[in-house]
Amino acid sequence: MSGGPKILRKWAGGIALATAVAALSQAGGRQADDPAAPAEAKPLPDHQMGPGGASARQAGSLEAAVPTPRAVAPKPAPAPAPGAAAPRAIDCRKVQCVALTFDDGPILGTTKLLGILKAHQARVTFFLLGQQVAKYPELVRREVADGHQIGNHTWDHSDLSKLSDAALESQLSWTQDALKKASGVTPVLLRPPYGSTNTRVAAMARKYRLAQMTWAVDPLDWKDHDSAKVERRVVDGTQRDYIILMHDIQPTTVDAVPKILDQLKAKGYNFVTVSELFGASPPVPGELYTKFPGTAQGLP
Ligand code: NI
Repeated sequence: MSGGPKILRKWAGGIALATAVAALSQAGGRQADDPAAPAEAKPLPDHQMGPGGASARQAGSLEAAVPTPRAVAPKPAPAPAPGAAAPRAIDCRKVQCVALTFDDGPILGTTKLLGILKAHQARVTFFLLGQQVAKYPELVRREVADGHQIGNHTWDHSDLSKLSDAALESQLSWTQDALKKASGVTPVLLRPPYGSTNTRVAAMARKYRLAQMTWAVDPLDWKDHDSAKVERRVVDGTQRDYIILMHDIQPTTVDAVPKILDQLKAKGYNFVTVSELFGASPPVPGELYTKFPGTAQGLP
């Protein structure tokens, strides 16, 4: 069960780690052949795992989004964050809140989104991939320094419901370690890729003190690379205390964000992190949420 962390300590080098991840993925694939595994998986109704589509889609989008080393501009990295931003006194039981979330980063393009969010004084939650965190730790520090929340989105976007317990644990623990190392923050939120979870994933999330956060609105920005569509679906779908899914690895999504923020602000929304949304009633590790469950929906 604790094979993952031991392996991580043993293989500190990036190449060795990548090899281990590849082996892990293969192990996970074999595990899927276990007849018990598919029956146990309980994907959410809104999770986007089409027949053979999700893995292919994700792999493709990540390949497209992650620049090769030669493509990385030699511009200076952002200055190391002095630490997390000061917490805000905002009570989402009294004011209207929405939690925007951005998955699968960080990538270099995340910098543009961070500038937009800062200009609008909006705080959001990023669900990060460990392998991207290892590439761009300075972007994770900037996210935290700007007051955003960071959460665990696994190491390499594996479907957790199909992994062995050992592989599942490595996906969570490696990413927790990478985020802590990059930012000093230990995440308390897990977003299972594709929203795919089951009782074993829940138990492992509980072990790592992670509440499972999926979403109430999916604007399908990973499928429709159309800023106007993403903008309309988010604005039309948002209700009080909802969690909204988006992807900062999609440039069309980042381009939609200024208008999304303007329109939702005009409707009276405050843009908060997931932990700010839950406030004094923090989410319970292992439990699964799509929104803050305690407020009547659709209030003005
Ligand atoms: Ni994702």
